[in-house]
Amino acid sequence: MARINLSMKVFISGASGLVGGNCFHFFKSVGWQVVGSHHSYATDYTVPYNTLVPHHPSNFDIRAFNPDYILHCGALTWVDYCEDHVEESFQKTVQSTKNLVELAQSIGAKLIFIGTDYIFDGKNGPYSENDPQNALSVYGQHKLEAEQYVLSKIPKSLVLRITNVYGKELRNKNFVMRLIDNINKGEKMELKLPYDQYATPVNAHDIARALQLLMRDRKEGVYHIASTDYLNRVQLAQRILSYFPQHKVKIEAISTTEINPPAARPLLGGLRTDKFLSEYPTFQFGNVDDFLKQILS
Ligand SMILES: NC(=O)c1ccc[n+]([C@@H]2O[C@H](COP(=O)([O-])OP(=O)(O)OC[C@H]3O[C@@H](n4cnc5c(N)ncnc54)[C@H](OP(=O)(O)O)[C@@H]3O)[C@@H](O)[C@H]2O)c1
Repeated sequence: MARINLSMKVFISGASGLVGGNCFHFFKSVGWQVVGSHHSYATDYTVPYNTLVPHHPSNFDIRAFNPDYILHCGALTWVDYCEDHVEESFQKTVQSTKNLVELAQSIGAKLIFIGTDYIFDGKNGPYSENDPQNALSVYGQHKLEAEQYVLSKIPKSLVLRITNVYGKELRNKNFVMRLIDNINKGEKMELKLPYDQYATPVNAHDIARALQLLMRDRKEGVYHIASTDYLNRVQLAQRILSYFPQHKVKIEAISTTEINPPAARPLLGGLRTDKFLSEYPTFQFGNVDDFLKQILS
């Protein structure tokens, strides 16, 4: 029997960002009714909404929109800054989530929380959904606290864990797009990158495609979303540079210990996506090469 693609009403907090923006455009393309918000970076397709001040008069009226889903993409994602600004990190990751949980409960909407592999310690990644968590950083601890809060308060909620996201976005601030932009400007650069931090980079567009299926099928619980790449930062940068023979970028491969960042990193991080692929065996994730070929074509 053919599956009926029911339309869905979705509110996306943080649609001016990388993940939220890609979800916004993809959900629209499949005919869903979507409203996406910005906080400080207004765009021509977003409405204002501050998750920290739910009753702010400028906030979009989510209650009146009455969405089936609230997709929460807002967070303070600057890992080292969070380490030194614990209260701000708590507010922007945990408290903002609590505020949206309360709202979702009061209007009967489901909540989708975007989690991270930073909830693991990186001793033996890539990780599956049920692997034991042991966050090393304030950012990781707050992301873990927020996702546990969501799962405990709204049993039918969805937690999508992702890591190392790249892709097209308005500000091109992700690592891959920043590097490509700088190469295209002909900038000379010397990058010191860690050779010992491994993760599973994933295209934000693929996150949107995968999430749309999970929402369409009203899935619940935790899902890891990752591509087939398992790369450290040096390998990722070299992969990008290999598509731009004219580049003026020099890479120095160093250890995380030498960088000595304020926040500890999960070294063997990354996520296994077996659970998702067992339920959607024909789904194809693109890898970094596919993305670069697409950018260049
Ligand atoms: N990018 C990654 O590699 C990665 C990896 C793992 C998990 N994640 C998670 O994925 C989610 C989305 O990340 P992203 O990469 O898309 O981040 P992003 O590009 O920095 O976007 C963050 C979004 O949050 C919004 N925002 C910030 N403070 C807000 C507030 N108080 N109220 C409402 N919105 C607020 C921002 O709005 P303005 O810009 O308009 O201020 C922006 O739209 C986050 O939960 C992050 O932890 C990301």
